[in-house]
Amino acid sequence: MNRQLYRFFTKDHRRIEELLELATKNPDEIQMEYYQGFRAGLLTHIKMEEKILFPAAQKANGGVPLPIAAKLRLEHGALTALMVPPPTPSLIKVLRHVLDKHDIAEEEPGGMYDVCSALTQNQTTELLEQLAHVSEVPVHPHHPAAFALEAAKRALTRAGYDFDTVAQ
Ligand SMILES: [Fe+2]
Ligand SMILES: [Fe+2]
Repeated sequence: MNRQLYRFFTKDHRRIEELLELATKNPDEIQMEYYQGFRAGLLTHIKMEEKILFPAAQKANGGVPLPIAAKLRLEHGALTALMVPPPTPSLIKVLRHVLDKHDIAEEEPGGMYDVCSALTQNQTTELLEQLAHVSEVPVHPHHPAAFALEAAKRALTRAGYDFDTVAQ
């Protein structure tokens, strides 16, 4: 199988994880310049999957949605919602938990990236070209209101996670 798309996305996962590592070396004092880079990186990565990779795979699958895509989309929603409130140690704990599981579901053998690569194997060059031109998602200031955290908790629930349980 053509591994170029697989490598493109997994390399981006490692780059984003590294930014989160740097941002949270001391969980009680988050390094915001790294955290902003992490937010932009994660949101742009999700955009590349939602706007380019997943639709191309679904189209190549005769328009039929891939079974794993629904859960991954709900997790994208939850991860995006977790980028809105200011980061706290419990938010970071939940974020890492969801991100780790999400990245495994995409990277594991037979996971989303394998399925997408196989379905789009005749368009690899074209897709890589489109991916190279995706503009970075601008990050907005954090929203400190309690409802931003409540919205993130609801998005997590829809994706099958309970914030308070994971945060403990
Ligand atoms: Fe994803
Ligand atoms: Fe991904």
